[in-house]
Amino acid sequence: MAARVAQRDTAERYLFVDRDSVGNPATQADWTAKRLVWVPSERHGFEAASLRDERGDEVLVELAENGRQVLVPKHEVQKMNPPKFSKVEDMAELTCLNEASVLHNLKDRYYSGLIYTYSGLFCVVINPYKNLPIYTEQIVEMYRGKKRHEMPPHIYAISEAAYRSMLQDREDQSILCTGESGAGKTENTKKVIQYLAHVASSHKARKEQSVPSSGPVSYGELERQLLQANPILEAFGNAKTVKNDNSSRFGKFIRINFDVAGYIVGANIETYLLEKSRAIRQAKDERTFHIFYQLLVGAGENTKAELLLEPFNQYRFLSNGFLPIPGQQDKEIFQETMESMRIMGFSPEEIHSMLR
Ligand SMILES: Nc1ncnc2c1ncn2[C@@H]1O[C@H](COP(=O)(O)OP(=O)(O)OP(=O)(O)O)[C@@H](O)[C@H]1O
Ligand SMILES: [Mg+2]
Repeated sequence: MAARVAQRDTAERYLFVDRDSVGNPATQADWTAKRLVWVPSERHGFEAASLRDERGDEVLVELAENGRQVLVPKHEVQKMNPPKFSKVEDMAELTCLNEASVLHNLKDRYYSGLIYTYSGLFCVVINPYKNLPIYTEQIVEMYRGKKRHEMPPHIYAISEAAYRSMLQDREDQSILCTGESGAGKTENTKKVIQYLAHVASSHKARKEQSVPSSGPVSYGELERQLLQANPILEAFGNAKTVKNDNSSRFGKFIRINFDVAGYIVGANIETYLLEKSRAIRQAKDERTFHIFYQLLVGAGENTKAELLLEPFNQYRFLSNGFLPIPGQQDKEIFQETMESMRIMGFSPEEIHSMLR
């Protein structure tokens, strides 16, 4: 129990703003006295500065970082929000809603370990590139049944809102994940599915479930299949690129069907625009689809013989030969892919012919 409480405390650091560091009266006085504003900066995008003087179309400001005085065109100066808005959870609340303030708020929160921030209906996520303790079953339970503004921003809150709206309004809901390569679309999509699989699994599945723990969750059969679709899709449709070691080289539309009571009854995934050319040619430092490496490294001797597999350098279509991904074992992931296929209900013959 003590361990669980401690675990939750660490998780909360990555969810809740430390308000003690925010509502400080001295910071407020400082902001008023210095007439702080944002000015463009080559290094930081924008930086804080004090307004000193107005000279026609320009203003004289003193940079907060080094005290240097510079002239800036008036239209390039952006207002700074009072300190009480520091690290706001929803940027729609900012009194001064400008580019500098939005970027500053996202950065400020990110540096405090807060990767999710709302901007009105949107939820902005910044990729932490490390595993944060905010996706456990306990955190799922924390968000369950809560309204969006009762809890800190999280992909679970977005999922919960969509789920509740579906049940209340009896209307289909959709969640769109968008962003540049490596932004975290695939990872967050998996969290949405994880959340829904947890809160909307059937009676039968829930009864089989033990008390909440931070360990692996026991899902119903259908929920398990829904979760295991990803490793298969990623094995065949993802590849290492210079931007992302696990880049999806296709788009997907996941539809999850619920019954009137809100339990998951089925799902289907449509895929679009697979980058087929990658199968025969890869740019420098890039790989073809993961499955080729998984198979060549992970297949047992029998499978290798049956499929007439050869060493990496014998394959013209593997432009860069064997290119391992740091911190990842293709061999182990091959076993996971095979396990996912079994959970999905593919027969050994089907799996064999897919590999062939
Ligand atoms: N919330 C997160 N927590 C920890 N790591 C993350 C998170 N989101 C993303 N990452 C890391 O960043 C990598 C890239 O994220 P992801 O594959 O989701 O990007 P993407 O937006 O789907 O990119 P692409 O368009 O190339 O498919 C992940 O493999 C993971 O290592
Ligand atoms: Mg992706």
